[in-house]
Amino acid sequence: MKNLLTFLLLCLTALPVVAGNNSAKATVDPDDAYKNNCMRCHSAVRQYSPHMTATIVMHMRVRANMTAEESQAILQYLADSSPAKVTSSEATK
Ligand code: HEC
Repeated sequence: MKNLLTFLLLCLTALPVVAGNNSAKATVDPDDAYKNNCMRCHSAVRQYSPHMTATIVMHMRVRANMTAEESQAILQYLADSSPAKVTSSEATK
């Protein structure tokens, strides 16, 4: 019984360490992540609609063996540099 309690205590003390690792990974540089992963196999990636980009990044995440944080950062990176934003209804007003 004492062993079980010790084990549970160890699990609890290990939790913040795991959480700390996750938050460190969340600060992935999108530009680096894109270049290090996508540019390994592609010289340039052409633009697709945001919906298709999401599917493509999911598909390529498997190919590039990326973490969730990296693929999320790349998705944001590709969405931000999308020309669709420039031609939005806001810009033509
Ligand atoms: C391990 C090599 C590899 C990596 C890394 C990789 N791709 Fe691909 N990609 C491919 C291959 C091979 C295809 C051909 C289609 C298929 O079968 O998936 C492809 C197809 C594509 C396509 C559709 C076809 C085209 O060329 O327009 C897009 C868009 C794309 N990749 C984007 C990306 C993005 C964005 C990343 C980074 C997140 C990435 N790829 C990382 C190998 C890779």
